[in-house]
Amino acid sequence: MTATHISHRSKFLAEGNVYLPHIAVIDKIIDETYDTKTFHLNFKDDKLRGEFTFNSGQFALFSVFGIGEAPFVISSSPTRSDHLEITVRRVGRLTNALHRLGVGAEVGFRGPYGNGFPLDLLNGKNLVFVGGGIGLTPLRSLIWNVVDNRDKYGNIDIIYGARSPADLCLKYDLEAWNEDETVNMVTTVDKGDEDWAGRVGFVPAVLEQVAPSAINAVAIVCGPPIMIRFTFPVLGKLGFSPEQILTTLEKRMKCGIGKCGRCNIGNIYVCRDGPVFSYAQIKDFISSEY
Ligand code: FES
Repeated sequence: MTATHISHRSKFLAEGNVYLPHIAVIDKIIDETYDTKTFHLNFKDDKLRGEFTFNSGQFALFSVFGIGEAPFVISSSPTRSDHLEITVRRVGRLTNALHRLGVGAEVGFRGPYGNGFPLDLLNGKNLVFVGGGIGLTPLRSLIWNVVDNRDKYGNIDIIYGARSPADLCLKYDLEAWNEDETVNMVTTVDKGDEDWAGRVGFVPAVLEQVAPSAINAVAIVCGPPIMIRFTFPVLGKLGFSPEQILTTLEKRMKCGIGKCGRCNIGNIYVCRDGPVFSYAQIKDFISSEY
């Protein structure tokens, strides 16, 4: 698998000035946690709504007018394309501004950018999703994508955790996957509370207990650096080779299209060559970050 194995450029990308955003309108806002919201968006222009396509795992640059723009992965699935979703944690000026917007507000949208997950490579495989905190967001687009095309894939294991029950994102999705008999959904928290009757334990330790087979399998990992750092060795112990592990990287970005150099790690640009990489592609670059 090469860095450009799944390069995708939608015809939707604006011709001419690539930095010119399309206008999207916020249709709905869901409070996920005390600092995280999911925004449902749709394009103002009906024609664009009809033309827009993307791959699970791709991202876009979203702008709050007068404030700036930032990259967010599209967290909804292309199999459910009547609107787009992004899940945003409040961490800075732009995300604070986004959180202050209400239903009906307009934001800028440039994209979709990046490669996305290699569906052709995943076809026929057993899939092991390992997510932590808001890192479920990019996985979620792919999970719905494979659940909506269930007969193309083998077993689906999802191991997802957060620091506490209050930090669990997308609880409505966790419930849906928990009720789906074709999915093995395992939810855990680092520390429970008096109402939590579920599993307690760090994601890598729970992954080791669940011990999904590496045979004909691909693991897709996304979460905070500390979780990622401890998850890769567990997957190795379970028999997953670096080629059988995918992850999606997050970096500061400016242009989103491989021109400004802001997002490089080693000799790769996350925006242009990723954000989805196999562990084999990045393991020599990311040891200092993870
Ligand atoms: S964000 Fe400009 S090169 Fe990646």
